[in-house]
Amino acid sequence: MTRCFTMLKPGVVNRRLVGEVISRLEKKGFKLVGLKMLHPSKEIAEAHYAEHKGKPFYDGLVEYVTSGPVVAMVWQADNCVELIRKFCGATKPEEAMPGTIRGDYCIHTARNIIHASDSDASAEREIKLWFKDEEIYDWNDAEAGWY
Ligand code: PPS
Repeated sequence: MTRCFTMLKPGVVNRRLVGEVISRLEKKGFKLVGLKMLHPSKEIAEAHYAEHKGKPFYDGLVEYVTSGPVVAMVWQADNCVELIRKFCGATKPEEAMPGTIRGDYCIHTARNIIHASDSDASAEREIKLWFKDEEIYDWNDAEAGWY
């Protein structure tokens, strides 16, 4: 079992798509082990996107993510990062396949609605940044064998 940090960006909240996106992830079979809504500080957004500091989109991305509440989540599954990133689709909506979250719900890269960790190492770092240990619930999953 591995984990993936996932964040629904402010546009998802504004567009009333939170339930729809979470529902798609749940139906796929990912196990939700952490969930919270928060208005991110500039500090946490900058720490989250630190590796992109200096890139042309960095300031706009931090501004967007701090513009309103986000929904931060931790999902668990075998090959969780790889599967969730496939599910989210390509970063650029014009390259994201229909059927993926970005392929179905957004048009602009700067508003690509969802973030998902890009590796197990990033997932570990991001989960530590956004969640305390006691905010993660590795509940007993009686249905695990059916996915
Ligand atoms: S890169 O250039 O390969 O390092 O960037 P990439 O890994 O594709 O994306 C890193 C995050 O930056 C977001 N991004 C953008 N935001 C706004 N405008 C533009 N043009 C842009 N390009 C990339 C991208 O969505 C990634 O953030 P997350 O939150 O993971 O989606």
